[in-house]
Formats: sequence, structure tokens, C-alpha cells
Amino acid sequence: MDTLLIRGGRPLHGVVPVSGAKNASLPILIATVVAPGEHRLQNVPDLVDTSSMLSLLGRIGCPSLVGDTTRVDTSRVAFCEAPYDLVRKMRASVLALGPLLARCGEAHVSLPGGCAIGVRPIDQHLKGLEALGCRFDLEGGYVHGRVDKLRGAEFRFDLVTVTGTENVLMAAVLAEGTTVLENAAAEPEVEDLAKFLSGCGARIEGAGTSRIVVHGVSSLRPSPQAHRILPDRIEAGTYLVAGVITRGNVRCEGASASDLAPVLEVLRNAGAEIDHGEGWVSAGASGRVRPFDITTAPHPGFPTDMQAQVMSLASLALGTSSITETIFENRFMHVAELMRLGARVHIDGRTATVTGQPCLSGATVMATDLRASASLVLAGLAAEGTTEILRLYHLDRGYERLVEKLSAVGASVMRGQEGRPNLAVA
Ligand code: EPZ
Repeated sequence: MDTLLIRGGRPLHGVVPVSGAKNASLPILIATVVAPGEHRLQNVPDLVDTSSMLSLLGRIGCPSLVGDTTRVDTSRVAFCEAPYDLVRKMRASVLALGPLLARCGEAHVSLPGGCAIGVRPIDQHLKGLEALGCRFDLEGGYVHGRVDKLRGAEFRFDLVTVTGTENVLMAAVLAEGTTVLENAAAEPEVEDLAKFLSGCGARIEGAGTSRIVVHGVSSLRPSPQAHRILPDRIEAGTYLVAGVITRGNVRCEGASASDLAPVLEVLRNAGAEIDHGEGWVSAGASGRVRPFDITTAPHPGFPTDMQAQVMSLASLALGTSSITETIFENRFMHVAELMRLGARVHIDGRTATVTGQPCLSGATVMATDLRASASLVLAGLAAEGTTEILRLYHLDRGYERLVEKLSAVGASVMRGQEGRPNLAVA
């Protein structure tokens, strides 16, 4: 099994190109199903998760061709099923529900099951789709959905759910009449999905806010223009923290300062040097940062997907920080691993208190989920000595060309093999 070897203690300096957003690519790839024909998408990142979604499209009869422009042909949908072997690898496959119901009037999607960060139920997805006239039964670990005719409705989510909003949105665009979604997710990735659907002829207002209005249309078709996936704000945020935690300065080319606003505010208040211009953001530091307090929240609050990464930064701050995770019930899996590197963290319910240390020291640690593994990379880059991160497949799900991008800004990093003697990283 692949591992990542990092020789820490080197300030990173330089430019990192930001890839397309994983969490916009996944809904947009499956959204092609609601508009029969050949779609062209640009800036789709080459990740395990996007490959999984392309496999799912292939399984339902929609071939694709990956390249600078990814082409997906949804002229025919032969099957309306997202099978367990794909869903268990990538829970975002649940996003097939809305598009298949809108396209075929039926959908058979394996229940995703939980994951390391929480149970992650899909009750809101089903309630929202039921409001549009869909009926579901659960059998054999699958959700079986049917609908004769999608009808617009007013629906208020009980809680903010990103993929729940996306699933209902992808069905509402083909419903008869108007749909109003209240307490919808306002993440930039939802807005990018709405932009893609509008390019296919959908009529959507308010995407990117908590109230989305959809005027259903009878059919959609691929946009004549290729849709360009927006930059990945979480990937960019991760590399910006790398610039700060290593006391260097990293510039993320393609990053959006507005999408990153809540993260930049925390870094700036902690004493990091933040700058940004047209299509780029940079972050750095010349010493240890000041402690900070964060509470994760739906956009435009502090993103839960950056919580683990800033905890690594807090581990080296000049004082005690408080990090409260409100979105997922088990998103502190990185804490035990960070403590192996010398971090001092006390967890009380959903709040972690981090007492900053003058340094961290390299060790072998275990990745448990995507963003937890990113936090271990950041800690390893700052730690003295060599850090080896096991179960690298978690990282490969969400970070395109990580070794190449880190090496280009001066990191001493390489992939290794678990259990094999690794050359000492230079
Ligand atoms: C999306 O997951 C992202 N994934 C996650 O990114 C991200 O952490 C999360 O949104 C929050 O921003 C994709 O977009 C593919 P939610 P999602 O539904 O939609 C509860 C990453 O690292 N909930 O917004 O699955 C749920 O349990 C990943 O890139 C229900 O109770 O998250 C959670 O506590 C990790 N019932 C909260 O809501 C539901 O029907 C928010 O979950 C749906 C959700």
C-alpha cells in the first residue's frame, strides 16, 4: 500500500496551480444525465473520486472521454442503478438519485453507509425528492425510487446539506412548475452546479444563497459551450496553510479569494501574511502564528473541510486555540495522529482545545479520511525529521498531483511503499 514520505522543516516558496473542485465536479458529472447529448467539461480534476463518478456514468450507459476537455455522452441511459460496489467507494454516488429520477422516472441507488467522519444519512435527500412527487422504498441496502411526474414544490431542508441540495436541484430543473428550496446549501460548488444546469437551459435563481427558486422546464440539452469547473477552494486552502505552517510563502494560482474568505480571515487574524489578486491568493508567515478559535459552519461560515488542516497550524501556534466541529459528529480522527507528531490536543465533545507547541517531530502516522490525511501532510511538512503517512489512498481521492505540486514549492516529499525500506528522503 502506498505511503507518503516527507522530510519536514523546509519553508515552502512558490506557486501551486489549483485544480478544478472535486465537490463541484462530482455533482456536475452526474448532472449531465438530465440533459441528453454530449457534454464538454473543462478543469475536471484527475482524482480517484472523479474516476469513480465516470465509472458510474459508464455503468448506466453514458461513455466518457477524459482529457483537457472531458466529454460525457448521456444520449442514452441504459440502467438506472448506482451499485453498491461503486457507492461504497464513493458516497457521492448518491447524487445519482435526482438525475436518474428526472431522466428515467426511477432510480436504484445503494445506500452509501457511513464513513470515518460520521453516519451521514440521506433522509433530507429523500424528503426533498418526495416533495417533488418521488416515492421511495428501502430494500436490500438500496433506495428504490420512482416518480410518474415531477411536480414543483416548496421545500425547506431541516438542516443544511450540500449534496441534499444538489440532488433535489437536479430533479427540480425538470419538474412541472416552480420549486422553492429554503435552507439550501450556499456553497460555491452548489452555485457552480446551478451554472452548469443553466447552461443546459435550466431556469434557476438564488443559487449560492439559502433560498433557491427553480422554474421547471420540459427538457434540457448540453450547453454549446464547455463548462469550466470552478477552482477547488479546499485544495487551495490546504496549500495556503502549507505556506504558513512551514513559514514560507505559497501562491495558489487560480484560487478565488472570495470563496476562501472565511479561511483567509482566520489565517490573517492569526498573523499570516495574506495577499490576493486577479485569480490568485498567497499566504505565508515568518514565524509561529497566534492562536485562533474557529467553529465550522455551512458556507459562508468556516468550512468543515478545512478544520483538520488548520488544526495542524494551531498545533504550532503561540498559545491555545479552540476548534469546534458542528457539521460532522466524528471529524477529529486526525487528532490522535497529530498527537503522535507531538501535538497537544484535548477533545471535549465537539470542541478540540489545541495547545501550541514550539515544534512537532516526524513519525509514522495513519490517514483515516481525506481531509485528516491533508492535515497530517501539513504537520509533516512542518515537523522536524521524517514523517511517513500510511493509507495514502485517502489523499488520492481529493488532491491531484500532490507530490508534484508540493515538490515544485520546495517540499522534500515522495511516495513510498508500506513495509519497504524507503530511501531517506533528501
Ligand atoms: C459535502 O458532503 C461534501 N462532499 C463534503 O466534503 C463536505 O464536508 C460536506 O458537504 C459539508 O460541507 C461533496 O460535496 C461530495 P452534508 P455531504 O449533506 O453533502 C447531515 C470532502 O472532504 N445530513 O452537507 O455529504 C450530515 O450527516 C467531503 O471533500 C443529514 O443528517 O454533507 C452532516 O452531519 C467530506 N441528513 C451534515 O448534515 C441528510 O440527508 C452536513 O452534511 C444529509 C446530511
